[in-house]
Amino acid sequence: MKLGRLNHIGVATPSIAYSVAYYREVMGAVEVSEPFDMASQGVKVCFVDTPNGGTQIELIEPLSEASPIHGFLEKNPLGGQHHVCFEVPDIAAARDWFEGLGKRILGPTRIGAHGTPIFFLHPKDMMGVLTEIMETPREGH
Ligand code: CO
Repeated sequence: MKLGRLNHIGVATPSIAYSVAYYREVMGAVEVSEPFDMASQGVKVCFVDTPNGGTQIELIEPLSEASPIHGFLEKNPLGGQHHVCFEVPDIAAARDWFEGLGKRILGPTRIGAHGTPIFFLHPKDMMGVLTEIMETPREGH
C-alpha cells in the first residue's frame, strides 16, 4: 500500500443542479463536469474542480430509492460529506494489503467515476470514514 493524492471528497446531495449552482455562484467554482449517471451504483455524479489539479468534490445524487445514497439522505436531508477517495499506484496491491490486515472491503473492485478501478473500505475499519481507494489515472486519461 502506498498512499497517493487525495483525489476527491464525495458529497451526497439531494440535487446536483442545486449544488452545482451553489459551487459556481457562492464558492466561485469555474470548472464543473457534466453530471452523468452511474446506473450500476444507483447514482448520478458530477465533479467540481479546485484549481491546479487539486482535490475535486464529487457530488452524488441518488437515482432512485434503491440507491445507497437515498438512505444517507434520509439521515442527512441537506446532504453532506459521504466519503474520501485516495489514489494508489496499484489497486490490486492495495486490496491485497487491506485484505491481509483483515479490513472489510465493500464489494468487488469495480470501475469508478474516473474510469479507473476502485473499491471501498468499511468506515468501521477506517476510523469512521467511508474510504474509496482508486487507481491513479494514467497520463492522458
Ligand atoms: Co468517490
